[in-house]
Amino acid sequence: RTVYLNGSFVPFEEARIPIMDRGFLFADGIYEVSAILDGRLVDNEAHLARLDRSLGEIGIRNPYPTDAWIRLETELVARNDLREGLVYMQVTRGVAERDFAFPAADTPPSVVMFTQKKSIIGNPLAETGAKVVTVEDLRWKRRDIKSVALLAQVLAKQAAAQAGVAEAWMVEDGAVTEGSSSTAFIVTTDRRIVTRPLSTALLPGITRAAVLRLASEENLTVEERLFSVEEAYAAAEAFYTSASAFVMPVIALDDRAIGAGQPGPLTRRLRDLYIGMAR
Ligand code: PDD
Repeated sequence: RTVYLNGSFVPFEEARIPIMDRGFLFADGIYEVSAILDGRLVDNEAHLARLDRSLGEIGIRNPYPTDAWIRLETELVARNDLREGLVYMQVTRGVAERDFAFPAADTPPSVVMFTQKKSIIGNPLAETGAKVVTVEDLRWKRRDIKSVALLAQVLAKQAAAQAGVAEAWMVEDGAVTEGSSSTAFIVTTDRRIVTRPLSTALLPGITRAAVLRLASEENLTVEERLFSVEEAYAAAEAFYTSASAFVMPVIALDDRAIGAGQPGPLTRRLRDLYIGMAR
């Protein structure tokens, strides 16, 4: 297994980060995750655009232009002979003596990239549908930034794991913000696809944007608005989206069956459309 670290491709076992890396000490960094399908990157330029924006929002210089990122990702995928899975990219504010304020402007950011083999299309959970629990959203106020400070999401996903389910939906003031690592959607009984509008309260999902595009191409009704946990309990269908799950049907929320308690027809259609686009 080969990974990328600060300008070189190195064996996984040899890749080391200094203890003074600000990613380690302060979670002072940004990450991205792009899917690989049939050996090719999926919607990758949108992920790189979000990476650039996230870095800009916290004042870390983007170490590479887009075409260089794409070349590095492509080479990493080829070196690992990856057909299906994920590319993980992380940039931190670099290595410096511990001090909360930014280090000297010439401190080079640390860059790490690795691949993860994963069956996304054939994921059995996509056939059976995923169960979800709700948790309180404990995060900070800039959730539009894809920061590596993920403690609230770690706790949310662990609550899901302890409940024996796949995902946790985070709730704030009675409304679902998003999944611990995904965007939350419901389908109302009159077939409206509902997801929260973009703001600083949630991550602008790349898969979300693609699914909304596909839905409107199919003349499906989309409503970008808040939805409550109560409304989700009563929904006809529910699903979540992410680079690692694509479109994942949700069959239960907090032990209550959603709709017929199986993946809904509209959800299945959106999943098929998304896979069609990704190929
Ligand atoms: N997570 N919301 C949150 C909080 C996320 O962490 C993610 C992605 C999404 C979906 O975004 P996208 O469709 O661009 O993948 C929404 C990635 C996959 C992760 O942390 O592994």
